[in-house]
Amino acid sequence: MEEKIKEALSSFDEEIKQVTDEQSLESLRIKFLGRKGLFAELFEEFKALPKEEKPKYGQFLNRTKSDCQKRYDELVKSFEKRKKKSKDEFDVSLPGRRNPVGTKHILTQTLDEIKSIFVKLGFSVHQGPELESDHYNFEMLNFPPDHPARDMQDTFFVTKDFVLRTHTSPVQIRLMESKKPPLRAIMPGKVYRNEAISAKSYCLFHQVEGLYVDENVTFAELKSTLVSFIKQFYGEDVKYRFRSSFFPFTEPSAEVDIWWQPEGKEGRWLEILGCGMVDPNVLENVGIDSEKFTGYAFGMGVERIAMLKYGIDDIRLFFDNDRRFLIQF
Ligand code: DAH
Repeated sequence: MEEKIKEALSSFDEEIKQVTDEQSLESLRIKFLGRKGLFAELFEEFKALPKEEKPKYGQFLNRTKSDCQKRYDELVKSFEKRKKKSKDEFDVSLPGRRNPVGTKHILTQTLDEIKSIFVKLGFSVHQGPELESDHYNFEMLNFPPDHPARDMQDTFFVTKDFVLRTHTSPVQIRLMESKKPPLRAIMPGKVYRNEAISAKSYCLFHQVEGLYVDENVTFAELKSTLVSFIKQFYGEDVKYRFRSSFFPFTEPSAEVDIWWQPEGKEGRWLEILGCGMVDPNVLENVGIDSEKFTGYAFGMGVERIAMLKYGIDDIRLFFDNDRRFLIQF
């Protein structure tokens, strides 16, 4: 019996040294101190001893077991302490946790850049309503009723007299009605067209309208302003051209194209904006003396401008909110 007790103690000594975590601590308890553990077995054996042998081993067995129990209890306590400490401790040398930060949508970034270039050129920024009357969207801009030019724009009619604006040009009219020349402003915003949705066109897009009205404003100034914008936006080497065109609200009118050459593909001219000298009819419509004042205007498509700059080949990407697209900018 004595041998067995000594053996139990020495294997307890051995195994308590191996305890490294709560799991191995629990295994130790089960093996030695549990209800079916080694000491429980020894006590069973002890019970079966002849009466006269009991005093010889009883004390020794009791002492050995309670000694092991004490060492086990101490270890439990030290584990608990360690756990609490590691919870309270803050390791200042750990690298910080990085929270993902969103970025501005690429259209907002493009608009911001366009705005900042024109603000530097002396333009202020104005806005107008997206729900617009036929009067401002067409009539005041010299589109007479039934004029074929209205077919240029596929309009969303909300009522007979109200439309989702098809361009930002009506904001020119609102500005000229509310302020006297000299006027120099850009007017960014959303516009809507009832077109078949494809890689090239979407029912919604953004434009930036520009207007400068004063005495002696010339087409040469229009051209130099737009060339300055194009070079600041796309870089000095950009290839561009002015091509004559038609708009009911400008005379003469032009469009500006940018040379677009995707890698490995054939290059071509892509239109980014329309412009011209404000038609005298439009000035008269808002009560500005067209003998005294002249003006230029332009309107650019923001999506088209961004697509060219960043090599985006599908306009729908701007509106899908696909994170894989958005995080590239
Ligand atoms: N409003 C025209 C469009 O949406 C663009 C435009 C062309 C605006 C010429 C202008 C301009 O101010 O002068 O197609």
